[in-house]
Amino acid sequence: MLHYEPINLSVPEVHRLLLGGVAPRPIALASTISKDGINNLSPFSFFNAFGANPPIVAFSPSRRGRDASLKDTYNNLIETKECVIQLVTYSMVEQVSLASAEFPSEEDEFVKSGLTPIDSDLVKPKRVKESPFQMECKVLEIKSFGEGGASANLAICEVLKFHVAEDLFTNGIIDPIKIDLVARMSGDFYSRAKEGVFVVKKPIGKKCIGYDEVPEHIRNSEIYSANDLGKFGNSESIPDETEVKLFYQKLLQEKMEGFEEGYEAFLRYQRLNDYRKMLKAVLNITGNRKRNIEIAVKCALQNNDMDFAWKAALSVKHIK
Ligand SMILES: Cc1cc2nc3c(=O)[nH]c(=O)nc-3n(C[C@H](O)[C@H](O)[C@H](O)COP(=O)(O)O)c2cc1C
Repeated sequence: MLHYEPINLSVPEVHRLLLGGVAPRPIALASTISKDGINNLSPFSFFNAFGANPPIVAFSPSRRGRDASLKDTYNNLIETKECVIQLVTYSMVEQVSLASAEFPSEEDEFVKSGLTPIDSDLVKPKRVKESPFQMECKVLEIKSFGEGGASANLAICEVLKFHVAEDLFTNGIIDPIKIDLVARMSGDFYSRAKEGVFVVKKPIGKKCIGYDEVPEHIRNSEIYSANDLGKFGNSESIPDETEVKLFYQKLLQEKMEGFEEGYEAFLRYQRLNDYRKMLKAVLNITGNRKRNIEIAVKCALQNNDMDFAWKAALSVKHIK
């Protein structure tokens, strides 16, 4: 590990560490209005949501690194105490980046970025039509930390009204593939969330056995990853020996269409993600039985078939 205390680093070095390590960050595209009625639009990735009752979001229009001057967004928030925050999708990311350019205060950044202003219902700043998720906000508090370049001005806001495109929903939740959000990382890097979307099942709560209760021979396997063991830990109970025996009896008797025995077949089933046939094939292979069963278990875990995974994983206990 490398070890740093911020006091020994330059501000740009600290900034670079935060940008690289605290990532990916959601992007708030903040629309504000000056007391003279000039629209401003800028992205901020020092941003997140902090509570739902009331709904609280916060972002930081920091002092400029170059000369510690205050940004137009900050000045507008102080003057008018309102903003609209919209989330940024892949289809608008280049225009959003354009809105981050330092245009003179009297320039309307809706015009400069080509994004479309539409009226809000409860606040003066405009909404951005292109974003499918918009929040009309009032500023509750602005907390400043330091007066040097890149110091934080945390604008804490309450959401007064959400506007959400109706086609984003699947089964009542906002679908990560449909919303297609982007996030900010270090340097010029962004991340497109939907290209890396995956599922982590919520812990089943107090009832789950936990990582420490996963049997030792499973924890010591060279095949399972820490994530695999985490999935085992998120189970309510461990099948007993009778259940494991029954599982194998059924598997042996089961007629599987086109089933072939042998290691070649095992490898083919592995490519096809067919862990049931993998396990059945393993039963007729003499060498490396423990390892091959665990490979089949890993495949079952990837498919979230916990019942299969447990029973097969427990069966290797006595195999050397
Ligand atoms: C994706 C992205 C994220 C940004 N995040 C921040 C941020 O969190 N805080 C900040 O002060 N500036 C951030 N910036 C830079 C501001 O958008 C930029 O300084 C902008 O010119 C400020 O505009 P204003 O003076 O009109 O408020 C970010 C820029 C981009 C492109």
